[in-house]
Amino acid sequence: MNLDLDGLKQQFAKELSTVSSLVELEAVERHFFSRSSGQLTSVMKDIGKLPPADKKSAGQKLNVLRQEMERALSDKRRAFSNKEMAERLEQESIDVTRQALPPKLHGHLHPLTQLEWQIEDFFRSMGFMVLDGPELESEYYNFEVLNIPATHPARDMQDTFFIKDLPGAVMRTHTSPVQVRALEEYGAPIRAIVPGRCFRNEATDTRHEHTFYHIEGLAVGRGISFSHLKGVLEATAKFLYGEDTEVRLRPKYYPFVEPGVNGEVTCFLCRGDGCKVCKKTGWLEIFGAGLMHPNVLKAGGVDPDEHQGFAFGIGLERLAMLKYGIEDIRHFESGDLRFLEQF
Ligand code: FA5
Repeated sequence: MNLDLDGLKQQFAKELSTVSSLVELEAVERHFFSRSSGQLTSVMKDIGKLPPADKKSAGQKLNVLRQEMERALSDKRRAFSNKEMAERLEQESIDVTRQALPPKLHGHLHPLTQLEWQIEDFFRSMGFMVLDGPELESEYYNFEVLNIPATHPARDMQDTFFIKDLPGAVMRTHTSPVQVRALEEYGAPIRAIVPGRCFRNEATDTRHEHTFYHIEGLAVGRGISFSHLKGVLEATAKFLYGEDTEVRLRPKYYPFVEPGVNGEVTCFLCRGDGCKVCKKTGWLEIFGAGLMHPNVLKAGGVDPDEHQGFAFGIGLERLAMLKYGIEDIRHFESGDLRFLEQF
């Protein structure tokens, strides 16, 4: 049997010279190296049929040829890869001198936190401390010291979450318990606000949440009167909504103040005409307030004949709804980025 290694070499060189892409190169590789039908593979099989005396030298020659062919293929492949890379670099070139885009911030403070911090700054500027209190509160501080004994119907004014297996504990329904806690801690005179989360077992609607924020405020000192309360509330409303903002105070019963009022400002949506947000009244209730009841001062260890005080409780969500024109309180806790990213 005659092995035509020179013919194989020439044929390979000829086919390789016409190759103009990586795809064509792979076709040539297959034509010679394919395990089933490659030209080189079939010559290798033929070696097995040679007489034993010729096998060794023919095998060595074929091995040299195979290595040459493999080297030629890999040189060609590298050349194509370099060319392709050069072309890609040409198309994808980057101008490293171009100014970088500003980094995108992916988070910011919740609108309620932003507003709370503004209000805290405003009250600090008037000499108020900012205090905190527990969200899991005792019935004693949430009700009893606020002049609401266990059997008093006023407990029904705030639908309360009680804690199973923890008698005497409630999720605080308002921040007013901190009135007495603050007096116990600091005594009189005192000026403080208490922002914090409150909980009520209420059906939610456009103005009511089961979890919401209050900002409690109190000032206790000699000769504190209703005028001081009115002045502070009006200053707060003007700070938040502008100089022409109107505040309406109307009598309201709260067991822990005497006299008590609820405070309303003009509805942001209808500007006073009446709509579904303000239940057709033109006003939106945002706080309760009054002069601190003598029993509350006494519970905090303060002599009501010596010191008097005012207190108020503002609904933070209602403030924010008014300020930003938000028509549904449930947006705040929805976690909806389309809402949150507007602030
Ligand atoms: C109180 O909770 C009193 N502790 C306020 C107070 C403090 C009165 C000090 C006198 C002296 P009231 O239940 O009205 O009051 O709530 C106060 C404000 O919280 C309301 O004006 C309203 O703006 C807001 N608010 C009440 N319930 C909800 C609720 N379910 N969802 C959202 N905001 C509410």
